[in-house]
Amino acid sequence: MAEVPRRVLVTGAAGRLGRATLRLLAAMGVAATALDQRDPGDVADRVVVGGAGDPEVVREALKGVDAVAHLAAIPAPTLDTPEAVFCGNTRATFVVLEEAGQAGVSRAVVASSLSVLGLPWAARRLHPAYVPVDEALPVQIEDPYGLSKQVDEATAAMMARRHGMTVVALRFPLLGGPGDKFEDTAARYAVSPESGAKELWTYLDSRDAAMAGWQALTRPISGYHAVFVTAPTTLAPQPTEELLGRYHPDVERRSPLPGHTAPVDLAVAADLLGFTAQHLFAP
Ligand SMILES: NC(=O)c1ccc[n+]([C@@H]2O[C@H](COP(=O)([O-])OP(=O)(O)OC[C@H]3O[C@@H](n4cnc5c(N)ncnc54)[C@H](O)[C@@H]3O)[C@@H](O)[C@H]2O)c1
Repeated sequence: MAEVPRRVLVTGAAGRLGRATLRLLAAMGVAATALDQRDPGDVADRVVVGGAGDPEVVREALKGVDAVAHLAAIPAPTLDTPEAVFCGNTRATFVVLEEAGQAGVSRAVVASSLSVLGLPWAARRLHPAYVPVDEALPVQIEDPYGLSKQVDEATAAMMARRHGMTVVALRFPLLGGPGDKFEDTAARYAVSPESGAKELWTYLDSRDAAMAGWQALTRPISGYHAVFVTAPTTLAPQPTEELLGRYHPDVERRSPLPGHTAPVDLAVAADLLGFTAQHLFAP
């Protein structure tokens, strides 16, 4: 049986998902240490301000910690230079997991992304080899952010072997929540459905993303796993089969996608993590 952690280090604590994760931990009565390069304010009883790529900062933040939620990253390739995005993200993941392993931490979850497939940030329209996409789908990355997540996943797998840790990489889609992005995105898809083709019109409420992280840290599993976690439906008002027929017409269909079903296979999320999204977008 997995044990409930006594103290969780949350990196990226000032960000959207970091805050949702800290709120969930507080609600569960689990102590947390917050790490971010921006001061996150009074979000946890221990706060460390500094870079997740700095081993000294991370060692300080790991004191008393028995599980790590590594969420810190530059979350898009457009937010900094290509080398800052790639090198910053991958260095942080390496340092956080290496220091955690050295400190004897046995459980970690890291934020990966649907962008690991390569579709969301490619300059041209790419198509998955098949739908629903699953964890076995070959990636076709053409951007530094997607590559940083691919390398983060490889780092996580290596650290699981190197330190005997259990590490889960959660492949998140667009994250948001009430009053935060989804209304705007859904309105955009209504008039311009092609703008969602690269993300397969998927989304996940940050509260559900935080819960997936908790399940990744506490389920009785071992080794390394990469898992897609999305809402079971899309943000688009159009039916999924119609969207796929228009924007990914030649892609192999492996199972029917009735109504607004997200074109993502959520079986691993359900079987491995017991995860099902609870906070669904209602226009
Ligand atoms: N937002 C999305 O739609 C989305 C989708 C898929 C995956 N993700 C991933 O989820 C995670 C959380 O995303 P978010 O939406 O909360 O992003 P965010 O930008 O709101 O928060 C990220 C936080 O990480 C911090 N940070 C970045 N690099 C750091 C470093 N090297 N050291 C210390 N702090 C650092 C930033 O200061 C920021 O507060 C990221 O790993 C992101 O790549 C996000």
